[in-house]
Amino acid sequence: MRDLAGRTVVITGAASGIGLGMAHALAGAGMNVVLSDVERAPLEQAATEVGSYGATVMAVPTDVTDRDAVFALADAAYAGFGRVDVLCSNAGVGAFPPIADATPADWDWVMSVNLGGTVNCLLAFLPRMKEQAGEKHVVLTASIAGLAPLGLTIYATTKYAIVGMGESLAQESETHGYGIGVSIVCPGGVDTNFGTSDRNRPDGTAGAQLAPTAQRGSDPDRRYPAMDPRDVGTRVRDAIIDGDLYVVTHPHTRALVEERGARISAAYDKIERGA
Ligand SMILES: NC(=O)c1ccc[n+]([C@@H]2O[C@H](COP(=O)([O-])OP(=O)(O)OC[C@H]3O[C@@H](n4cnc5c(N)ncnc54)[C@H](O)[C@@H]3O)[C@@H](O)[C@H]2O)c1
Repeated sequence: MRDLAGRTVVITGAASGIGLGMAHALAGAGMNVVLSDVERAPLEQAATEVGSYGATVMAVPTDVTDRDAVFALADAAYAGFGRVDVLCSNAGVGAFPPIADATPADWDWVMSVNLGGTVNCLLAFLPRMKEQAGEKHVVLTASIAGLAPLGLTIYATTKYAIVGMGESLAQESETHGYGIGVSIVCPGGVDTNFGTSDRNRPDGTAGAQLAPTAQRGSDPDRRYPAMDPRDVGTRVRDAIIDGDLYVVTHPHTRALVEERGARISAAYDKIERGA
């Protein structure tokens, strides 16, 4: 999608971190921006910030786990702008108990926001986007934890699913001629409010478990500096323009992905040897 100016983007989880970084980059490129988030006060603040680019901004409080609310978000965006050129399904949370100690509430919450929220976005937006003439693009925020095992089992379950969803959507778009490009965002550590994402837990257990990234500015493995979310936003903007399927952030995470690939290759080597 070469020219972003004057087009419209909808971003979930836009009041903080990576979603807000995307909003800055895309408003800076001249897009109209529909910001949505479950946190109302930060959402209003984000709308003010992003409005400084001169972009037309709409703020729609939305809990992505609420399917009706996500359809209402789509209705509001189409009513306001007539079309949605780019959808960024980005809202996400994490719970990181030792997996054998995970509660049903841990699983339900992370699955409902990360995976259920993304499913709700596809249900609400894709039927309308595919009917629009011209280029369209869907950005799905996954994680490096969706490309390689980092021991974050509940979170990884949702992020691997999002990677599979994005890869399959890209194939289907090609097969059916939807004209919808796809980018799957797989960051390493980014300096956001993710470490306190349990502030939005509906079961009132906020603060019970610290996320690995609870210390602001730290990469999960602590050796590499966390990235500025505005820089992630810039990479996402460029991926939309260039039609890139994968967006990665930290060079050191390549080794994790290659190690996984090598282990899968080794399984094929084994059957080829007839072992
Ligand atoms: N920060 C990192 O190191 C990192 C790395 C890889 C992937 N990610 C992913 O990036 C995405 C954004 O996270 P972030 O790091 O910017 O964290 P963040 O907490 O700064 O931002 C996430 C936003 O999502 C919103 N949100 C939470 N639950 C919601 C819900 N039910 N409905 C709508 N909005 C909701 C929050 O209010 C918040 O504004 C997530 O999908 C996360 O998994 C983050």
